[in-house]
Amino acid sequence: MKVFSLLIFIGLAHLSFAQPLYKDKKAPVESRIKDLIQRMTVEEKILQLNQYTFGENRNVNNIGKEMNELPAGIGSLIYFSADPVMRNRIQKKAMDSSRLGIPILFGFDVIHGFRTVYPISIAQACSWNPSLVTQNCRAAAKESVLSGVDWTFSPMIDVARDPRWGRVSEGYGEDPYTNAIFGVATVKGYQGASLSDSFSIAACLKHYVGYGLSEGGRDYHYSDVSAQSLWETYLPPYEACVKAGAATLMSAFNDISGVPATANHYTLTEILKQRWKHDGFVVADWNAVDQLVAQGVAKDRKEAGLKAFTAGVEMDMRDNIYRENFKQLIQEQKITMAQINDAVSRILRVKFGLGLFDQPYTAIVSEKDRYLQPYSVQLAADLAAESMVLLKNKNNTLPIGIGVKQVAVIGPMAKDKTNIIGSWSFNGHSADAQSIYEGLEHEFQGKASLNYAKGCAFDGQDEAGFDEAIAVASKSDVVIVCLGEEKTWSGENASRSTIALPAIQEKLVAALKKTGKQIVLVLSNGRPLELLRLEPLSDAIVEIWQPGIAGGDALAGILSGRINPSAKLAITFPLTTGQIPTYYDMRQSARPKEGLYQDIATEPLYWFGHGLSYANFSYAQPVASAIKVKKQGKVSVSVSVKNTSEVEGKETALWYISQPVASISRPMKELKFFEKKNLKAGEEATFTFEIVPTRDLSFTDANGNRHLEAGDYFIEVGKKKVKIELVD
Ligand code: GLC
Repeated sequence: MKVFSLLIFIGLAHLSFAQPLYKDKKAPVESRIKDLIQRMTVEEKILQLNQYTFGENRNVNNIGKEMNELPAGIGSLIYFSADPVMRNRIQKKAMDSSRLGIPILFGFDVIHGFRTVYPISIAQACSWNPSLVTQNCRAAAKESVLSGVDWTFSPMIDVARDPRWGRVSEGYGEDPYTNAIFGVATVKGYQGASLSDSFSIAACLKHYVGYGLSEGGRDYHYSDVSAQSLWETYLPPYEACVKAGAATLMSAFNDISGVPATANHYTLTEILKQRWKHDGFVVADWNAVDQLVAQGVAKDRKEAGLKAFTAGVEMDMRDNIYRENFKQLIQEQKITMAQINDAVSRILRVKFGLGLFDQPYTAIVSEKDRYLQPYSVQLAADLAAESMVLLKNKNNTLPIGIGVKQVAVIGPMAKDKTNIIGSWSFNGHSADAQSIYEGLEHEFQGKASLNYAKGCAFDGQDEAGFDEAIAVASKSDVVIVCLGEEKTWSGENASRSTIALPAIQEKLVAALKKTGKQIVLVLSNGRPLELLRLEPLSDAIVEIWQPGIAGGDALAGILSGRINPSAKLAITFPLTTGQIPTYYDMRQSARPKEGLYQDIATEPLYWFGHGLSYANFSYAQPVASAIKVKKQGKVSVSVSVKNTSEVEGKETALWYISQPVASISRPMKELKFFEKKNLKAGEEATFTFEIVPTRDLSFTDANGNRHLEAGDYFIEVGKKKVKIELVD
C-alpha cells in the first residue's frame, strides 16, 4: 500500500510542479492552445480580442500613466515606439502581472521599410522583381523585430484603378495578378520560412476587401462592388496570399455594396474561413468597428461590436468596443463561448506561431547595429533603381552625354529629403535620405557642374523663383526639372479631385521651356499624374515615385546611363483626370470605335506595362507547343527576344491571355505571367510561359466558381499574339 501511496504522491507532485501544457514548447501548438483556452476566464478571453494603443508615445521614461492603464492581459498593442527596452517593459507586465502570462502581440505599420525606407509599394510593382521585394521585406522584418514589432499591417493588396484615391500609392496597381504576386512576395519576406524564425514578423493582408473602389476616389466611402468584380478582381490577391500562409488580415473601412467590409459575414467567414480555410485572425482597421454606426448598420457601439464579431472580425483595433461590451453580449447569449473560444484560438495560434510564449522579449541591440545596415541600404538602392520608369526619351535625350558640362537641377523635389521617402514611413528619418541633387553631385562629380534653383514650391502662386531658375537653365546644357507631390498628398485620407500637379509646377516647366534647352522631367509622386500639359514640354520623363532613402543615387545612375532603366508601369497614367477609370484589362465596348470622348483623346497617356529602356528589345513571333490543347492538358508558349542595342539591359516579358468569345464577357486581356531577364548587348533569350489552362485560362463567375471553356484563346507578349484552341 505504501508503495502505491508513494507513487500517487510522486504523480501529484509532478503534476503540481510540472509546467502547464501551454507553456511546454515541445507540445504541439494546437494542444497548447486547447490547454490555455481551458484555463482562461471569460474576462481573459475578451481581453485577447482587443488591440490597444498608447498613441504616439515614444519615450521609455514617461509611460508611467499609460503603463498603469494598460490591461496586463491585453491581446495586442499598436506599438508606436521603436525601442526594444520599452517593449520589454510592457511585455514584462503582461508576463508577470497577468494570471496566465499570455504575451502581448506588438503590431505596427511597416509598409515599405522600418528605418531603412525603400520605395513605396506602387513603385515596387513597377520593378517586376518580386524576389528583390522579398529581400527588402526580409530586411524590414529584421529591423522591426529588433525594434519590438512582431506583426506588420502589410501588404496592402487592394486593386486600385482610381488615382484620385491616395492609397493607390500603398498597393501594387490596377491588376489582380500583379497584386497577388507582389503580395505573396511581401508575405514571404515578412514571414520567412517560418513565423517562428528569429526575424520573422506576421503579415496582415489589407484592406479586406474592395477598398480600392472607394467611390470617386474619396477615401472611406461606399464601394459598389459587383459579385462578379469581387471574385474576378478584388479577391484573387487575397486568396493567393492566404494560400501563401499570411497569418492575419485587416477588415476594410469601405461599405461593400451595402454591407460594410467590417460586418460582412460573406467575405469574412463564408469566403475567408469556410472556403479558404484561413486559420489565423482578422483585425478591424482603426476604429472600423465603431464606424459601423456611421455607416448605418449599427445603432450603437454595442451593436457594432456584435455585428463585426459575428461577421468574422476577431480583434478590435483601438476603439475598445469588444472589451466594453462582450461580457454583456455573452450574458445576453448573443455571442456564444464557442465563438469566443474560436476567436481567441486564432489569435493564440499566431502568438504561438511567432514563438512569443517561448521568447516574449526582444534582444537589445544598439541602433547602429539595428538599422541602416549596408546590405539593407543596398537592397533599397537596387529596388529604387529597378522601380523608376523611363516614360519618355525623345531623340535619346537620356542618358546625359559626356559632352554635357553644365547641368541645371531645378524644382521643389530637387533637394527634397522628406517627401522622397513617401507616406507610411513613420520610423524613417529624412536625414537618412539622399536627395536627387545629392545623387547627381556624386554621379557627375568631376564630369559636369550642377547649377541649382528651386524655382517654386510644391503649391501656391509664388513665381518669384522663376527668374533665377530661368537664369540657371539658360547657362546650362540640359535642364533637369524635379517636380512631384508632398508625401501627405497620397496615402491614407489623401483623396484629390485632380491628379494634375499644381499649376505653379506646370508654369515653371513652361517658363524653362522658353530657354530652348532640353527638359528632363523627373517626377516623385504617389499616384499616376495628369501629364497632358507637361508631356509636350518634356524631352524625357522619368517617374521615380517615392523611392525611399536611396533614390538619389539610383536616379542619378539612370540619368548618367550607369543604370539602364528596366521598370514598367503597374498602373495606367490617364491623359487627364476625366479619363478615370481607365485600366488595361477593361472589357470591350459594344461599339469600339464610338462612345469616345468628344473633347480629348480616349487613349490614356501611358498604359499599364509601359516603360522604356536605353536598350532595344525585339520580340519574335511567339510560338505555342501545341495549337489544340486539352482542358486538363498543358501548353507552353515561347518567344525569342533579342537585345538589338549596344547596351545591356533587363527586359520584362508580360504575358497576357484573352478569350474573345465566352459565356460571359471577359476583359480584353489579362496578365497571367511575367518574367524579367538581363540581356547583354546583342544577346537573344527565350522567355517561356508554361500555361496550365485550369489556372491561366479559366475565369471566375459571380459565385466564385471557376469556369474553363473550350474555344479560341490568344496568348500575347511583346504586342504579338498566338492563337490556341482549347478542346474538351
Ligand atoms: C489606418 C489604416 C491602416 C493601418 C491602420 C493602423 O487607419 O487604414 O492601413 O494599418 O490604421 O495604423
